[in-house]
Amino acid sequence: MSSALPATNLPGAIPTLNSRGFMLEALDEYATEFAAVAGQAHHEVLDMGCAYGVATLAALDKGAKVCACDMEPAHLNILTERAKPEHKAALRTVVGLLPDVEFSAQSFDAILASRVIHFLTGDDIRITLRKMFNWLTPGGKLFLVVDTPYMPGWNSIVPSYETKKAAGEPWPGFIPDFASVRRTSAGDPPAPEFLNTLDPDILARECKAAGFDVQRASFFGLQRLGKDSNGREHAGCMAVKPISV
Ligand SMILES: C[S@@+](CC[C@H](N)C(=O)[O-])C[C@H]1O[C@@H](n2cnc3c(N)ncnc32)[C@H](O)[C@@H]1O
Repeated sequence: MSSALPATNLPGAIPTLNSRGFMLEALDEYATEFAAVAGQAHHEVLDMGCAYGVATLAALDKGAKVCACDMEPAHLNILTERAKPEHKAALRTVVGLLPDVEFSAQSFDAILASRVIHFLTGDDIRITLRKMFNWLTPGGKLFLVVDTPYMPGWNSIVPSYETKKAAGEPWPGFIPDFASVRRTSAGDPPAPEFLNTLDPDILARECKAAGFDVQRASFFGLQRLGKDSNGREHAGCMAVKPISV
């Protein structure tokens, strides 16, 4: 089995093998905090939608026990091969599809879902966040990162998103026919059928509705773009499961 990552023509972004975008090789502020929290955790942590494990490997380096979950088994095979021999015992891989995947209640001290829940409908995001609440130990932390409407590849939707948001639509960044909207470059993986681009307000609203205390929700820039970033290509949220629920 090869541990080689697939070739890319976008430095810092590795294409997935299942048309679900790219894994970004640089950790953002939310994934960095997840890895630090994971290193101090008593129980296992969950990296949901881990792809080839950029955050999983960082958490393992910090001494964490990590459950790495992804819908695509080939991603997990590559991740397993990439893990250092001394970290293999601390790594568990699970093939699982949101929102159906199940884990035991109160089994994780932290969960990262980085750039995965925008592949779900609004209803499935709600199911997913309630499940994640159940999977976390009391005091456990949830880190979410998503793509927003302001990504250059599909920012033609921004006027419609802003109009729908102002009108109070719950999922104003939902793009039903994503292939017809996405600007493509040579070598891009095929597009998923739809993309539910999100923003910090929506993340905070849905985390609160699932029972979490929201600590922080923000836009932030796609690091790969450097000075060309508009500072809003991504959104993140850090939320805590209250100790007494
Ligand atoms: C855009 S990549 C993000 C990878 C990495 N977490 C990051 O932030 O760079 C999305 C990953 O989520 C996985 N994924 C997408 N939809 C999923 C779902 N419904 N259930 C589980 N995994 C999913 C894909 O297979 C892919 O590996």
